[in-house]
Amino acid sequence: MNVWRRLSGRNRAIALTGASVLVAGGLVTLPVTAAQAATQCQVDYTTSDWPGGFTGTVTIKNLGDPLSTWNLGFTFPNSAQKVVSGWSAKWSQSGQNVTATNESWNGSLAGGASTTIGFNGAWSGTNPKPTQFTLNGTVCNGGTPPTSTPPTSTPPSSPPPSSPPPSSPPPSSPPPSSPPPTTTPPGQKVDNPYAGVKGYVNPEWKAKADAEPGGSRVSSNPTAVWLDRIAAINGTTGSSSNGSMGVRDHLDKALAQGAGYIQFVIYNLPGRDCAALASNGELGPDELARYKTEYIDPIAAIQADPKYAGLRIVNIIEIDSLPNLVTNTSGQPGGTAMCDTVKANGAYVNGVGYALAKLGAIGNVYNYIDAAHHGWIGWDSNFGPTANQLLAAATASGSTVHNVAGFITNTANYSALKEPYIKITDSVNGQTVRQSKWIDWNQYVDELSFAQAFRNKLVSIGFDSNIGMLIDTSRNGWGGTARPTGPGATTSVDTYVNGGRIDRRIHAGNWCNQAGAGLGERPKANPEPGIDAYVWVKPPGESDGSSSLIPNNEGKGFDRMCDPTYTGNARNGNSMTGALPNAPISGAWFSAQFQQLMQNAYPAL
Ligand code: BGC
Repeated sequence: MNVWRRLSGRNRAIALTGASVLVAGGLVTLPVTAAQAATQCQVDYTTSDWPGGFTGTVTIKNLGDPLSTWNLGFTFPNSAQKVVSGWSAKWSQSGQNVTATNESWNGSLAGGASTTIGFNGAWSGTNPKPTQFTLNGTVCNGGTPPTSTPPTSTPPSSPPPSSPPPSSPPPSSPPPSSPPPTTTPPGQKVDNPYAGVKGYVNPEWKAKADAEPGGSRVSSNPTAVWLDRIAAINGTTGSSSNGSMGVRDHLDKALAQGAGYIQFVIYNLPGRDCAALASNGELGPDELARYKTEYIDPIAAIQADPKYAGLRIVNIIEIDSLPNLVTNTSGQPGGTAMCDTVKANGAYVNGVGYALAKLGAIGNVYNYIDAAHHGWIGWDSNFGPTANQLLAAATASGSTVHNVAGFITNTANYSALKEPYIKITDSVNGQTVRQSKWIDWNQYVDELSFAQAFRNKLVSIGFDSNIGMLIDTSRNGWGGTARPTGPGATTSVDTYVNGGRIDRRIHAGNWCNQAGAGLGERPKANPEPGIDAYVWVKPPGESDGSSSLIPNNEGKGFDRMCDPTYTGNARNGNSMTGALPNAPISGAWFSAQFQQLMQNAYPAL
């Protein structure tokens, strides 16, 4: 885990230089009218534009017979409009004609079902929307609702009765297909599992913290139990990054503690950590079947034991996985072959969908999916596409959005919760702070503002309106003597941002064992609107990755982002990594880091 990945900010900065206003994307909804009996469809096409580039989001609704494969066609009105890279479909373009063909995991589309696909594109001049879409060669004039009589006397080529329909939403309104209000599933799930109850303290983490001088000041905080391999389900010995207690042992201990909630991290996807090396796992990219039967099924069987029905069981689903499919596949500056493989074979999407469906079916289980952090998907080009990717996974493998209680940010990083001395809307000498090297055109300056905005986005595309966010505050305190006490000098956007930011990393792309970091907010429920809890999912004191190659039998590699002597790469602006030296492999106890986290805690201990 703990890998920061995104499109290169520098590229984006070039695209945006000189432009201060984002062009809001419009919405085209083609209405329900006549079409052929077999294939009937409705397409929503929205874009979010910036100078020279845009993100296109296309929702295809099948209003006809069930489909097992599909291809969508449309024609860009202008020759300068191009698809640069896409997701959730195989995209191709010939001249102005664009085709998107289903991936293996989303080919089947029942009557009435929708799927959302998307792409990043380029444009110049204007960026008009296509006026017509085809599905499997048939024009999407909308479809005739199954209950009404097909207008057989109308020639198939007749135009829709009115275009656009009077009910078309204005361009800036939310998508028309927001879900019906959430119905309470059987099992009486509460809205916020963290509210009003005490959290489980993992005795194995507590013992390590208590063994450190001063550690007892923090060791009674709840931290998550990471199930980072199949063997962790029943408990392992001989692993440097896990204790020996299994899932049942932890649940029994939680009952004994009188805890109200317990947190597990589901973390074993095929081809895990596809864009980095420090937390590669035991399953190869083609081992989805093993993930289901040897990993998820046994965890679900234990969690479903009626003995534990009184506990609220929180599952944090697959840190760092789905955003990689958006930002680290071919065509992106950070693209890797492994991310291409798990995108193409559906391992991540179907693995997450399966986990959500299986675990979400248990009445007292709450699933929160990882949603990266602001320094990864806080750019427009990653924000909406990642939300759509999360929706695709939440509706894969038999899951529905109702299996999702919410999302978690910042487990993979050290981003500050709040930047008290910088607002994203600030400007210095007429220049927006977004232009500073540190912010680098991001739309967010801290995790709280990002998490709240991302929650709104997720609700607007179809997640339940009562979802809540979690923010991992285990390492983002940034207290201690280096913490600024006021805004930076207004000489330039860079002096202002660098002088005032409390996040003291060298570059926001640095993610491994960060020097100077401190413990953040202690775990607590309902701290801010839209936020279910501040949590410590990454257990403080557990390494993000080794600072040099350490042979191990856990599948973990050596990522140079954990090497304090490495001078960086395009992903971190060719900066030093800021990693602490002498770190053990990811998950193993790192005493020096734990001491530093306590020393720089904010709020102070
Ligand atoms: C490691 C896991 C570990 C987790 C929590 C991850 O980076 O890969 O093995 O359980 O961190 O420390």
